[in-house]
Amino acid sequence: MTSPALTDVRPRWVKDGALGAGRFRYGADYNPEQWPRDVWQEDMRLMREAGVNIVSLGIFSWALLEPRPGEWDFSWLDEVMDLLHENGIDVDLATATASPPPWLTRLHPEVLPQTADGTVLSPGARQHWRPTSPVFREYALRLTRAIAERYAGHPALVAWHISNELGCHNIYDYSDDAARAFRVWLQEHYGTLDALNDAWGTAFWSQHYGAWDEILPPRVAPTQRNPGQQLDFERFSSDAVRDHLRAEAAVLREVTPDVAYTTNFMVAQNVRDIDYATWVDDVDFVSNDHYLRPGELGRDDLSFWANLTGNLAGGRPWFLMEHATSAINWREVNPPKRAGELVRDALTHVGHGADAVCYFQWRQSRAGGERYHSGMVPHAGRDSRVFRDVVALGAELDALAAVTGSHREKARVAVLFDYESWWVSGRDSHPTEALQYDAEQLAWYRALLDLGIRADVLPLAASLDDYDVVIAPMLHVVTDEVRRRLEHVVRDGRHVVVSYFSGIVDGHDRVWLGGYPGALRDLLGVTVEEFVPLLPGQPVTLGSGSVATTWTERIVRLADGVDVLDTYADGDLAGAPAVTRRRAGAGSATYVSADIGRDGVAGVLRGLSVDIDALAADPLAADGRVEVLSRTNGAERFVFLANRTDESVLLQLDGDAMGSTETDADGTLALAPRAVAVVRQDAAVLAAAAADGIRSSSTARA
Ligand code: GLA
Ligand code: GLA
Repeated sequence: MTSPALTDVRPRWVKDGALGAGRFRYGADYNPEQWPRDVWQEDMRLMREAGVNIVSLGIFSWALLEPRPGEWDFSWLDEVMDLLHENGIDVDLATATASPPPWLTRLHPEVLPQTADGTVLSPGARQHWRPTSPVFREYALRLTRAIAERYAGHPALVAWHISNELGCHNIYDYSDDAARAFRVWLQEHYGTLDALNDAWGTAFWSQHYGAWDEILPPRVAPTQRNPGQQLDFERFSSDAVRDHLRAEAAVLREVTPDVAYTTNFMVAQNVRDIDYATWVDDVDFVSNDHYLRPGELGRDDLSFWANLTGNLAGGRPWFLMEHATSAINWREVNPPKRAGELVRDALTHVGHGADAVCYFQWRQSRAGGERYHSGMVPHAGRDSRVFRDVVALGAELDALAAVTGSHREKARVAVLFDYESWWVSGRDSHPTEALQYDAEQLAWYRALLDLGIRADVLPLAASLDDYDVVIAPMLHVVTDEVRRRLEHVVRDGRHVVVSYFSGIVDGHDRVWLGGYPGALRDLLGVTVEEFVPLLPGQPVTLGSGSVATTWTERIVRLADGVDVLDTYADGDLAGAPAVTRRRAGAGSATYVSADIGRDGVAGVLRGLSVDIDALAADPLAADGRVEVLSRTNGAERFVFLANRTDESVLLQLDGDAMGSTETDADGTLALAPRAVAVVRQDAAVLAAAAADGIRSSSTARA
């Protein structure tokens, strides 16, 4: 592994030295307009006590900043900006365009978004605007310019926060504005109607288009809508919201060319609509919001999305813009975080490359739709478990400052993540509605964690060159280009592992012919004639003992040199191959044709590990009880050891314990339940150890 040069370690967002200058950023969304002035004074005292050094300000302040069209009131924001600066707290200042004021929608109801069934969404919540509305755009850019001009040069300003979670509630707008913009997008992408008719397969059900104006967004129709149209509308919608980002960014670049800007992504299990791989070049630094899923899989789920975020950022440091200190308020049941989880979650993001740890929000609201959402200062106030944890985390981040600026260390195994496969594999009118792309991704990721194998969750567009093993769970949409890239991995003597319902369609959701898995048939050396989805409660057992639910496939042919690793043991497919492996020189291509879950795929990986070195367990992972995360600045390696369990784990460590991590004199560490330990190791010593054939300089104890 080559070490990144120190110059590469500096993220693009260190434009002025104000961000990331050798310390973690720590803070929250700050909404002082919800509170009287005496609370602001207490806020400053408590922020200092917690070690807060940055806040995101003004995110939902439009109605107060522009109380009437074109009339500005910056007085209170001036005061807050000055107050923060006096207290040594920097500001990630919002353009404040996320939630338009009531006067705007009264004056221009035509900015309100429309759902697929024609319902016009009313004001009264937030994000009630069409991404493609020229009217909204004009008002939003006027506000952006006014704020940028007002605060350009303010000493507290260190970054711009464009809008907020763009597309969170309004990504799919089916209005006439959207229809017009969609047609322009389609013309740019297809050039001719003939090309579009071919791509969408409009010979089906008399859908042939004779004029661009005939094309609409995929609004509610009597039955199944055109899949090519749906996919393009999803792509268009992701791009349309990005156009808004670009428009605000252009104003900011013009007024404050030296101030970095970002917008908070939502790389998370519950948000799948934006292809963030196509957004990363539109921000000076990647920032993300993540909310913990309740229950047993929450921790691993957090790790998965933080991992993807780190790889979207190209391994460079990124900014955790929002997560929660404790409970959220928008799932069915919203339990508080358990002891240790506040620190664990923050440090897991840090282990995956975050150089900023921020929350929604500073002070828990008293009124409004989010009054039961936790904050750094809860309803109970300073004397509370949450605030004590907040203070402890601030101190811990201070003690870990040396980690900032370091990159994620690349793993040897990649799990390929593709937004379009997520969208399309979950489409209506499929063989079953039971398939879940994110669950399949997570099954592989968790199996790797269980086996103690570090992996990168890699956006499909990223280079595969550095990976010994590339795992493609349910890579449903496969273009010729993607097929060639995967074939290259195997030709290169490396390994590809693919799971069911992959390679099935091209970039227009048209099925590849000649047998499944379509585009990947030659690579894998298998031909599938039929999908055999399973009814609920009717699982199928494999020879290995693995159990398939939801999905199986009828493999009818194997190419020469394909080994059968597992077979269907009962059901209609009894005796047929279920898991196969094609060897090609030093490389191989493995296919798992059934949904066998986390335990099943762990069994497959364990089998492959016999002759694929990259699949060997890291001893420090303590048989999967610990997630091993690693960052490096070239000279040093920072290893984060996250206890995945509710029991303490004994580890034997080499290197210097950092922050609150404490080892015995002989390097023994009892890693508390849900705790994260951090160790600093000299990269040169590690390289020498590796040369001696020692896989890891530390080990886990039984
Ligand atoms: C999102 C938003 C915040 C807040 C939180 C609550 O992340 O950006 O304004 O609504 O969700 O979880
Ligand atoms: C009906 C319709 C056909 C086809 C089938 C599919 O019978 O007439 O056009 O859609 O359903 O099951």
